[in-house]
Order: sequence, then structure tokens, then C-alpha cells
Amino acid sequence: MPELDDILPLPTENQAITDFLKNRRSNLAKLMGDPGPGAAQIDEFLTIAARVPDHRKLAPWRFVVFQGPARTDFGQHIAAAFMKANPEMPADRSIFEGQRFLRAPLVIGVISSPKACPRGTPEWEQILSSGAVCYNLCLAAQAAGFGAQWLTEWYAYDKDVQKALGLSEVERVSGFIYIGTPQSASKERLRPDVKSLITHWGV
Ligand SMILES: Cc1cc2nc3c(=O)[nH]c(=O)nc-3n(C[C@H](O)[C@H](O)[C@H](O)COP(=O)(O)O)c2cc1C
Repeated sequence: MPELDDILPLPTENQAITDFLKNRRSNLAKLMGDPGPGAAQIDEFLTIAARVPDHRKLAPWRFVVFQGPARTDFGQHIAAAFMKANPEMPADRSIFEGQRFLRAPLVIGVISSPKACPRGTPEWEQILSSGAVCYNLCLAAQAAGFGAQWLTEWYAYDKDVQKALGLSEVERVSGFIYIGTPQSASKERLRPDVKSLITHWGV
């Protein structure tokens, strides 16, 4: 990775990146298996993920990494939160909920962590930057040959789960990024008609 004040390469045409972006799709967490990335790869993904536009360099986000048995341990918090919110549900649903993080060998929680900024970077911009982190993390994992999916599901919004994650009052879950080896290829999904989303101002 570059060091501070290194001269960075100018953008050049890179068809491989263009093709990668044109074909980009998420890989379903439920169809993800071993192997997951190793420690050095995870470090690289997080370094790339943190390399996003960030107004006033506040780094208004952070990561929580779940691997191995931590996925089951944290699953107990998810299961307990689910049963607390849905006491009428059968007990075996708690087993299902507790195994959510087991769908992939690696799950990374991206936490939006807005900073009080005396010079006034709006919170909205800090939250947008956190979304960019999620997407960069997916791209970094996929560029290294892994599958990735950005999920929130219900537990990103549950107060008990947020407490177990150690979120402060101002923090929110931007996403849980599931990363692993895809067990099958994704099919193209319906895409919006981009032309219908474009206006040429003044025309
Ligand atoms: C903030 C955010 C949260 C998401 N949460 C979920 C989710 O909980 N469940 C889900 O099926 N897809 C969720 N998605 C969508 C997937 O990440 C993915 O984009 C979609 O399944 C397929 O579209 P793609 O292949 O073009 O990425 C979420 C996307 C975003 C941006």
C-alpha cells in the first residue's frame, strides 16, 4: 500500500476493472462456504475498505470481525434477541437465528461511527462514507476471488444486538459483509432502466 505523500499512478484505461464492475453481483451468503480469506488477506480487505472518500478525514466507521467460534458465540446474542422480540415463535427458530453468521467463514460488521466535527462535516456525509466502506469491502473480497454479500437483516436494527456489538448511542450498523467461497455462480438480476433515472438539467 502507498505511504503518505507517495505519488500515485494516474488513472489509466483498465478493461479488466471495467469488466469486473460491469459484471459485479453479490454472492448469496447462504451459498457461501470454506475456505475464507486468511489473516493477511483480511487485513488487506480492511485496508482497501477504509480507502474511501471521507470528508475531512474523520474515519467515521469501524469494523467488527467474526470468524470461527466467534460466529456461534455472537449467534447466541442474535438468537436471544430474536426470541425476546418474538416470544411466540417455536424454540427451534432460535437455533436457526443463532446460526446466521455460520453461513460464511468470515462476517465483518461495518459500523457507522459519526464524529462530532466542529468544522461541520454533516452526519449524512459521514454515513454515506460508511456505505462506501461496505461496498469497497465487497469489491476487495471479490477482486481476490471470494464471494461477498452486504446484509443487514433484522438483527442490524435490534437494540440488544447493537448493545452486544458495543455500539455507542450515535453508532449504527451499516452492514454485515459475508465473505467466503461461492458454492455456485450468481445469475444476473433485473436491473433498473438507467436511462429512466437520468435527467439532463435544463433540457
Ligand atoms: C444497506 C444494505 C442492506 C442490505 N440488506 C440486505 C438484506 O438484509 N437481505 C438481502 O437479501 N439483501 C440485502 N441487501 C442487498 C444485497 O446486498 C444485494 O445487493 C442484493 O442481494 C443483490 O444485488 P447485487 O447482486 O446487485 O448486489 C442489502 C443491500 C444494502 C445496500
